[in-house]
Amino acid sequence: MAPNPQGPSPFDDPLIPAELDRSNIPTHVACVMDGNGRWANARGLPRTEGHGAGEEALVDAVDGALALGIEWITMYAFSTENWRRPVDEVRYLMGFNESLLMRRRDELNDKGVRIRFAGRRDWRVPRRVLRRMDEAAELTKANRRCTLTMAFNYGGRAEIIDAVKAMVASGIKADKITEKELRKHLYWPDMPDPDLVVRTSGEHRVSNYLLWEIAYSELVFPEVLWPDFRRSDLYEAVVEFQRRERRYGGLEE
Ligand code: FPP
Repeated sequence: MAPNPQGPSPFDDPLIPAELDRSNIPTHVACVMDGNGRWANARGLPRTEGHGAGEEALVDAVDGALALGIEWITMYAFSTENWRRPVDEVRYLMGFNESLLMRRRDELNDKGVRIRFAGRRDWRVPRRVLRRMDEAAELTKANRRCTLTMAFNYGGRAEIIDAVKAMVASGIKADKITEKELRKHLYWPDMPDPDLVVRTSGEHRVSNYLLWEIAYSELVFPEVLWPDFRRSDLYEAVVEFQRRERRYGGLEE
């Protein structure tokens, strides 16, 4: 791996397990922050409180990524299907994502995190929220220690459809359509495929997340509900990742 231009991580962490191999760190980890509603229900709280409690988990996971030198971390914050949730929850999530960016963008910027967004910027996303997203991206665009991509109004199928539409609009001939060509039209062509996907709360589903990109990702499903997720859980997931043998359809010698 090329040396990180912003130097070694200043966030070395005693919680990193001794068995974790620092020479085999995934380049890209993608998380599905699942279980907020169940966490809140278990406490007799409204579901929205669970999302609120998930913020701490998100920030701690990013700190863990920084400590390990993970260069790309992607968080599923709102899917193209999440509009089907109750209108109050959707409204809350729009405002919450907006305020989270305002609360956290400076500290993430100070830590060398570049914030980006993947998803459709359609009429359903309030203008205000789009503005905050643009501000956070602009503020942090020069950072390279770690790229935090928020998948927001994101769907894997929508991303593939959007890529196909962009290819067709470019006038490409059918016989020139290749995997390499399609990749060029994904939301972030420079983003490496996730090595590791972590979905919390014990659900074993992909739920339309990064469908093109996770073709050969290792999937880990910790039982912990997202609000209780901490960087030590990320470290455990990386240890599990390191136990896997990645073959990409081939055979190990
Ligand atoms: C996929 O499950 C999970 C997501 C799209 C994550 C949604 C996350 C939030 C709403 C909370 C965001 C929290 C923070 C801290 C920003 P699904 O429920 O969409 O799909 P399923 O029905 O298949 O389980």
